[in-house]
Parts: sequence; C-alpha cells; structure tokens
Amino acid sequence: MISQNVLLGVNIDHSATLRQARYRENPLDRGRMVEPDPVDFALAAQRAGADGITLHLREDRRHIQDSDVYRMIEMIQVPMNLEMAATEEMAKIACEVKPAVVLLVPESREEVTTEGGLDVIKHQSRVKDVIAAMKANGIATSLFIDPEAAQIDMAAELEAEFVELHTGAFANVFYGAGMDEELTKLKHGAVRAHDAGLKVNAGHGINYSNIKHAREIPWLHEMNIGHSIVSRSLFVGVNEAVREMKALMNGIYR
Ligand code: PXP
Repeated sequence: MISQNVLLGVNIDHSATLRQARYRENPLDRGRMVEPDPVDFALAAQRAGADGITLHLREDRRHIQDSDVYRMIEMIQVPMNLEMAATEEMAKIACEVKPAVVLLVPESREEVTTEGGLDVIKHQSRVKDVIAAMKANGIATSLFIDPEAAQIDMAAELEAEFVELHTGAFANVFYGAGMDEELTKLKHGAVRAHDAGLKVNAGHGINYSNIKHAREIPWLHEMNIGHSIVSRSLFVGVNEAVREMKALMNGIYR
C-alpha cells in the first residue's frame, strides 16, 4: 500500500551550516548583516507548505545554535521536530523548548548500528529515561533507527510514539546495485513498525530523484528532508524547492 498524503518535515540545518561558514564567531550579531538566518529559512519553508520544521542541535553546535532553537519555537506555527542526542543536557533543553517531537539520533560512533541509526537496544536505558522525561512534558519521541526488526521491536517496547527509518543506506545505493534490497528492508520495517503501533517517519539522503522510490514505503506519516531542499533553494528559491518536493512526495510527477 503506497502511503497517502505524506507530510514533509523540512530539515533546515544546512541553512545554518552556510551561516556558520562565514559568521561562526558571532552568528547572532544583529548589528551586522548575518545571513542566512535559519529562522527565516524555516518561515519561508512554512509559507511554501512545509508541514513541520526539523533542526538538529548537535553537541558540538556545528550548525544550529541554542538561540536558533529558542527563536524558532517562538516563530514557527508548524510542529517543531527537535533532533538531538539522548543526553541529559539535550533533554533539559527540550523540556524548556517543548517541541512537538524530539527525534533521538546517535552522535558518536559507538551509538550507531550497522547502517547508522541509533542503537536503541544497546542504549535502551538512556533512551527510556529520555522518553519518560519527554512524556512528562507532553513531548512525543521519535527514534532514528535502521529498518531492522530488533530495533523496531525495541522502539515499540520503549513506547516511543514514532520511529524515523534511516533511508541513508537506500540513498547511498540509489544509483547502483542493491537499491531494491534496501527499499525492501525499508518497506518491511515500515509494516513492522506500523503493526507494532508506531507512527512511521523516514529520512536521510532523500532527494528529488530518489523520492519517487522512497515514497513507495508504506504507512509513512512524514519524511524529513534537508540537504536536497536547501541545495535546490539556491537555484529556485525556498518556495519552489519545498513545493516541488511536496508534489513529488505525493505522487504528482512533472
Ligand atoms: N533525518 C535525520 C535523523 C537526520 O539526521 C537528517 C540529517 O540531518 C535528515 C533526516 C535529513 O537528511 P538530509 O539532509 O540528507 O535530507
């Protein structure tokens, strides 16, 4: 069954990457021209029809800064998906910001499974604590995992509301052999997660080309897409970049 009306979460991290490339020392000095502002990018994406905004506050603050998160939550009207490591520091920030969803991702090599998702089996006690803290604050939790049965089953056992299936392995082989195999893993993973009562998101490496296959994943609630949209925006603007991706996601091909 092909997913209907898949929502588009626009990941705006790379608008901040661009800002940091020039203004790392003082990204929020409003006395000077500091661009691009990721909040402006998010608002433009929202006007173009983004259903949600995702931003990743990394422990090393390489792109999004704390002040971006706090400004963003005041400005956007669509749900915020705050991507972060399952650490005490990040849980504290999330409880203050109160995004709609917290998306737990790995940030160091030892947290990663074979394909790069968070290993929720190995880190179950830390993940469980963060999920409980989020629930107590009315925040849903999504776990960024590989489409592996054991990881999905653990996500359900931990009572996360969402999983985000890692599409990176699929995206990496998209132009070569092995695409069907990776897509099949994602399809099976989505069915298993849905059957376990989880809402199913997907993301990483999705672009204007591979989306027509990625959208074959069943039971999709939302796809989180960043790099390709930010890149396309350089040529056609944020409005057109978001609109085109949304059209492709929902089967309207040009
Ligand atoms: N989902 C997660 C969990 C991610 O970490 C990223 C990358 O920041 C994305 C989705 C978006 O990936 P991309 O920028 O390749 O579209």
